[in-house]
Amino acid sequence: MESPFKADILKGKVALLTGGASGIGYEISHQLGKHGASIAIMGRRRHVIDSAVSALQSLGISAIGIDGDVRKREDAVRVLESTIKHFGRLDILVNAAAGNFLVPAEDLSTNGFRTVIDIDAVGTFTMCHEALKYLKKGALGKDLVSGGTIINISATLHYTATCYQIHVSAAKAAVDSITRSLALEWGTDYDIRVNGIAPGPIEDTAGFSKLAPEEMLGEEVKEHVNLRKVGKKWDIAMAALYLASDAGKYINGATLVVDGGDWLEKPLRLPKEAVKQLSRAVEQRSRNEPVGIPKSKL
Ligand code: COA
Repeated sequence: MESPFKADILKGKVALLTGGASGIGYEISHQLGKHGASIAIMGRRRHVIDSAVSALQSLGISAIGIDGDVRKREDAVRVLESTIKHFGRLDILVNAAAGNFLVPAEDLSTNGFRTVIDIDAVGTFTMCHEALKYLKKGALGKDLVSGGTIINISATLHYTATCYQIHVSAAKAAVDSITRSLALEWGTDYDIRVNGIAPGPIEDTAGFSKLAPEEMLGEEVKEHVNLRKVGKKWDIAMAALYLASDAGKYINGATLVVDGGDWLEKPLRLPKEAVKQLSRAVEQRSRNEPVGIPKSKL
C-alpha cells in the first residue's frame, strides 16, 4: 500500500528496532527505511535477521542486523555500541521484541510469567536505559535542539482483561507505564519523546496465529473472530512513522491504539437471547429495588 507520508521525512535518521526482523517489527523497519532512515535490527535468531536485512537492502535501505536478547543487559549495550559504530548516531528506538503464548493462569509457572515480563517489560526498560546517552539532544551526530524518540509496542489486552493472557497483560501494562514515566522524566530533562503503539489483531503475525489458533476455536468463537476488524502490519508501521517523524513532535507519553476499535468490544460470553432475557430481569429488579437506597428510606 502507498504511504501517505513524504519519502524523506526520516532522512538522515538512524533507527534501532528490537524484534525488527519479523512481523510488525519488520514492517516498521521497512517503512522507517523507505522514508529515509538507516535501520539496525536486533534479534535472537541469526537467520531471521539475515533475511530481513537482505530484504531491506534489496529495497535500497541501509540496514544492519545484530544478534542480541533484550533480556541481557550486555547484549543491549553491545547492540547499541555496534549501531553507533556503524551509523554514527541514534535517533529512534523501537521496542518491538515480545514474548507470548496462550495459557490458563492456573497452569502458568512463575518462570513462564517472569519470562514474558523479562522480555516485554524489563527488556523495554533496559533498551531505553542503555540508549539514553545516544538519544539525548547534543549526543553524537545530534543538534542541541531536540533529542531522539522511543516507540514501545504494547497491546490492548490489559485495558479490560483477557483470558489466558495474565502474563502478557501484566507485561504490557508495565510497558505502558514505562512509556509514561520516561516521557515525563526524559521529555522534561532531555527533550526525548517516548510513546507507545497498541496494535489490535494484525494479520500474518506470530501474535495472531499464536493467540487465535484455528484448532482451538469453537464455531461460535470462530464466527466472532471472523467478525473482528483485522488490521495490517502496514497500519502499525504508519502509526510508527507518524510518531517518529515531526508530524508527532507534540506527542509525548501517549500510547496510540491502532485496532479499528476492536478493544471496545468484548467477546460474547452468552447467546444474544439469554443476554436480552437477563437484561430485562435486571431491569425489572432494579425498578423494584433501587440500588444503593436502604429499604427503610423508601
Ligand atoms: N504454556 C505454558 N508455559 C509455557 C509455554 C506455554 N505454551 N511456553 C513456555 N512456557 C513456559 C516454560 O514452561 C518455561 O517455564 P518453566 O521453566 O517453569 O517450565 C518458561 O515459559 C520459559 O520458557 P522457555 O521456552 O524456556 O523460554 P524461551 O526464552 O525459550 O522463549 C517464549 C520465550 C516462551 C516467550 C517464546 O514463546 C518466545 O521466544 N517468543 C517470542 C516470539 C513471540 O512470542 N512472538 C509473539 C509476540 S505477540
